[in-house]
Amino acid sequence: MTTPQHKIGSGFGATSTADEVLAGIDLTGRLAIVTGGYSGIGLETTRALAKAGAHVVVPARRAASAREAVAGIPNVEVDELDLGDLDSVRAFADRFLATGRDIDIMIDSAGVMACPETRVGPGWEAQFATNHLGHFALVTRLWPRLVTGGGARVVSVSSAGHRRSDIRWDDLTFARGYDKWEAYGQAKTANVLFAVELDRRGRDAGVRAFSLHPGGIMTPLQRHLVRAEMVERGWIDEDGTPLVEFKTPEQGAATQVWAATAPQLAGLGGVFLEDCEIAEVTTADDAPGVRPYAVDPASAARLWTVSAELTGVDLP
Ligand SMILES: NC(=O)c1ccc[n+]([C@@H]2O[C@H](COP(=O)([O-])OP(=O)(O)OC[C@H]3O[C@@H](n4cnc5c(N)ncnc54)[C@H](OP(=O)(O)O)[C@@H]3O)[C@@H](O)[C@H]2O)c1
Repeated sequence: MTTPQHKIGSGFGATSTADEVLAGIDLTGRLAIVTGGYSGIGLETTRALAKAGAHVVVPARRAASAREAVAGIPNVEVDELDLGDLDSVRAFADRFLATGRDIDIMIDSAGVMACPETRVGPGWEAQFATNHLGHFALVTRLWPRLVTGGGARVVSVSSAGHRRSDIRWDDLTFARGYDKWEAYGQAKTANVLFAVELDRRGRDAGVRAFSLHPGGIMTPLQRHLVRAEMVERGWIDEDGTPLVEFKTPEQGAATQVWAATAPQLAGLGGVFLEDCEIAEVTTADDAPGVRPYAVDPASAARLWTVSAELTGVDLP
């Protein structure tokens, strides 16, 4: 049955932390993969899941830096993965599958935001390729082990930035001219649609999927923005002092950790979350929630077909 895109009264909110949503939850014996689990909210996610007992696999394109970042966190292993390179995705998946381990939690937290125009693979726009196609290929290749442990939860980390753009069906690669925020918006809409269709395809096998906006958190994600642009967007003043209320990394990680582990979400899936709660659908500017186009089942199925064609991988 389709899960309604409506609040459920989780009891958590914008200031809840990853440790708070995990209180009383024992993840001993569970295996989690966290892409981007060595920076920003991904690193905090790794720390919180490991603290709750999970074994966490962190795929990283900068493995040496990742090992430094997770040093001291028990039960964490790092392996190499560049989401912008489908050969690298296949190699990581093959290595992981060869270990014969089941996956209980898969959190797709890695991402790049508003980078200068960059082309990867056969000329794909880098934000769509990294944030969406790389994760699409990764999850699809890992599918056998998402099923065998009794059904994993897959968490696709999107953003409020999805409101900036629907999928540009007639120009996915920005051949007609690049806009870094529209490209981020398209990629983040793709993250939402991916969860909608993955959940539809996976639910009979026990695999459930969620997408989410984590909130605004100052992390290395902003690396491609110069200070003047953050000032212009009203995030900080000229001295770098925050003008809006940012979440801490512990708060920013909470929604994806909640998505991955909350007993309240058992039997649910395919919905967009915000502030540790199922979000409402909205078309209002500057209101929280998810745009209708991002949770449209027909668009989700269409994007799946396009993504399978582009990456050359699909579910069995
Ligand atoms: N921070 C926010 O305010 C905010 C708001 C809305 C949504 N989000 C979403 O939250 C997620 C995490 O963001 P964050 O704030 O934690 O950012 P972050 O600190 O920059 O972390 C992003 C991670 O993704 C990794 N990554 C980037 N390109 C990759 C590639 N080609 N292959 C493998 N890994 C790659 C980065 O690795 P490297 O360090 O090696 O580049 C880094 O570990 C992103 O999906 C972002 O869109 C964040």
